[in-house]
Amino acid sequence: MRVLVIGSGGREHALCWAIAASPLCDALFCAPGNPGIAEEAICVPVAATDIEGIVALARCERIDFVVVGPEAPLVAGLVDRLESAGIRAFGPTAAAAALEGSKGFTKDLCAKYAIPTAAYGRFRDAAEAKAFVRRRGAPIVVKADGLAAGKGVTVATSVAEAEAAIDEAMVAQRFGAAGAEVVVEEFLEGEEASFFALVDGAHALPLATAQDHKRVGDGDTGPNTGGMGAYSPAPCLTPALEREVMERIIMPTVKGMAAEGRPFKGVLYAGLMLTRAGAKLIEYNVRFGDPECQALMPRLMSDLLPALLAARDGVLDGFDLRWYPDSSVAVVLAAKGYPGEPVKGTEIRGLAEAAGGDPSVKIFHAGTKRVDGRLVADGGRVLTIVAWDKDVAAARDKAYAAIDRIQWPEGFCRRDIGWRAVPPRPR
Ligand code: AMP
Ligand code: GLY
Repeated sequence: MRVLVIGSGGREHALCWAIAASPLCDALFCAPGNPGIAEEAICVPVAATDIEGIVALARCERIDFVVVGPEAPLVAGLVDRLESAGIRAFGPTAAAAALEGSKGFTKDLCAKYAIPTAAYGRFRDAAEAKAFVRRRGAPIVVKADGLAAGKGVTVATSVAEAEAAIDEAMVAQRFGAAGAEVVVEEFLEGEEASFFALVDGAHALPLATAQDHKRVGDGDTGPNTGGMGAYSPAPCLTPALEREVMERIIMPTVKGMAAEGRPFKGVLYAGLMLTRAGAKLIEYNVRFGDPECQALMPRLMSDLLPALLAARDGVLDGFDLRWYPDSSVAVVLAAKGYPGEPVKGTEIRGLAEAAGGDPSVKIFHAGTKRVDGRLVADGGRVLTIVAWDKDVAAARDKAYAAIDRIQWPEGFCRRDIGWRAVPPRPR
């Protein structure tokens, strides 16, 4: 079959790598892709959010199946448009993508279907939001309702900070329309974990567990990012906890969405806080996590493509996925300045030799481009280096050894990815 993957990040590189290995895949395309993806797929320069351009590309290349990586085209209705053009697509419709596209929608769904989450209020008026903040006190969390490229959440340690975040979203309109409404919610304490399930509208199949590292600095310090590294499996997500999350969070959501007339298909990604009162939902994403996907794909023993097709076709019931017992560690190499303004255009050398010929090391590209044959940085998160081995410590050591062979003085990474599973090695 002829497959088209949408997106250009490390997540999409990992998806292309897994799909290219499927015996079902006769031809693989990616729009727009990146120089790393170009080694697995034919890259076509159509933007991920150019819905009509993607439909035209899918028709022109006689694509049988489209796999959508990022959230923006999902929220904008790419899957609806492809399906109505008769092209099968993996991912939720716009109505179902509201689980990521509107935090207020998700909170109301949780309230209606008794899904554990932080207590909250929804506000379209800044004064009312601030009055709620003053009533509840700090710490408290302020979130822009819509998509804000991961920057719309403020965990405020004081009432003044929360009020400033409300002003930034609603008065200064820093996130545009996405911040016209805010959710103000209770601060949850605990360890965070990512939980992924493939969903076919009615059934859900949990994927292997993973844990992200959201803060930019070692020891979970500094500003939030899209994710600086991940590892899998995550020991904090015990089998008992996995069952609890499936029963109390994922399945009520799948059933609730179907009951609301918005059946969800695709990857449901629950950001969880493991509190003393049990797992609570922080937020939903409607796609694979990045860099969690890069940590998961090397552990997948089964063929990814039939699983994605089963989710699309509504036949996941009874479907099984097998995973290698190995642990994987994915470390993000970012351009200095990230998550603020990353330095762009600096040359990266030594990638070809970095893996040292080891087949259990893989370098996924995210923000790279080729200029006159040279590979240069072209984004915040630029590469994800993934290694897998018998345990987290061995996988991590291999990933960092590969990173140390990459010549890119303008890049940086966290040195403690996987620290919750094994303490970082002293340098
Ligand atoms: P989100 O974009 O919703 O994932 O939020 C970004 C980060 O903010 C999360 O990964 C958490 O670290 C933090 N966060 C969000 N909501 C809460 C909450 N209710 N309590 C504590 N931390 C939160
Ligand atoms: N790793 C966090 C995310 O994909 O949103």
